[in-house]
Amino acid sequence: MTTYNEIFKNNKAWVKERLSIDANYFEKLAEGQDPDFLYIGCSDSRVTAEELMGLKPGEVFVHRNIANIVGNNDLNVMSVINYAVNNLKVKHIVICGHYYCGGVKAAMQSEDMGILNPWLRNIRDVFRFHKSELKLIESEDARYRRLIELNVEEQCLNVIKTAVVQRYYLRTGYPIVHGWVFDIKSGELIDLKIPFEEKLKEIQEVYNLGS
Ligand code: CO
Repeated sequence: MTTYNEIFKNNKAWVKERLSIDANYFEKLAEGQDPDFLYIGCSDSRVTAEELMGLKPGEVFVHRNIANIVGNNDLNVMSVINYAVNNLKVKHIVICGHYYCGGVKAAMQSEDMGILNPWLRNIRDVFRFHKSELKLIESEDARYRRLIELNVEEQCLNVIKTAVVQRYYLRTGYPIVHGWVFDIKSGELIDLKIPFEEKLKEIQEVYNLGS
C-alpha cells in the first residue's frame, strides 16, 4: 500500500518523467482543455476513467459518483453535463458502469441503508422498471450483471432527457450518448451499443426539449 508521504514523492517523479518527454508539457496543459469526451462513471477506485480509456490529461472531462447515476435534480451532474456540452462542446458522452458494482449490489438488498436510501432509490427504480425481465433471471449473479447494464441504459436516457443534449444534437449532430460496462475481472470495456438516434426519438415523444 502507498503511504501518504509517498504520494508526494510519486508526484515529483511523475513531473520529472513528463518533463523529460516534453519540457513544455505543463505549460501546454495550463493553456486550457479541449476534450472530446465526457465520462460519467462510478466512484469505485478500481474503475479509472483515463487509464481504462487510454487517455491523457486534457482528453476527457470526468464525473464520478456511486453507481454512475444521472439524477435530474442532482445539480452536480447536471452542471457537468451542461458545461461539457455548452462550453467544452464534447462530441461523446459516455455512461460507464462496471460489473461487481457495490452501489448496485447494495440497491439489490431489501434493507434500510440510511442516508444512502435516496441515492440507491435511483437504482431500485431501475429494478422496478425492468422487474419482469429481471425476475426471469434465475442466477443471482446474472441478475446482478443485467441490472448493472440496465442501470447504464437508464442513465443514458437520463442524459438524453436534458434540454442541452437535445438542443445541441439537433443543431450540430453532437453529442452522441453511449453506454459502456467495464468488466473488472477481464479489464475489458464493453460497448452496450445503445441506439442513440432511436432512443432520442423515443424520449422526445415525452420529453421534447429540443426546440
Ligand atoms: Co460501482
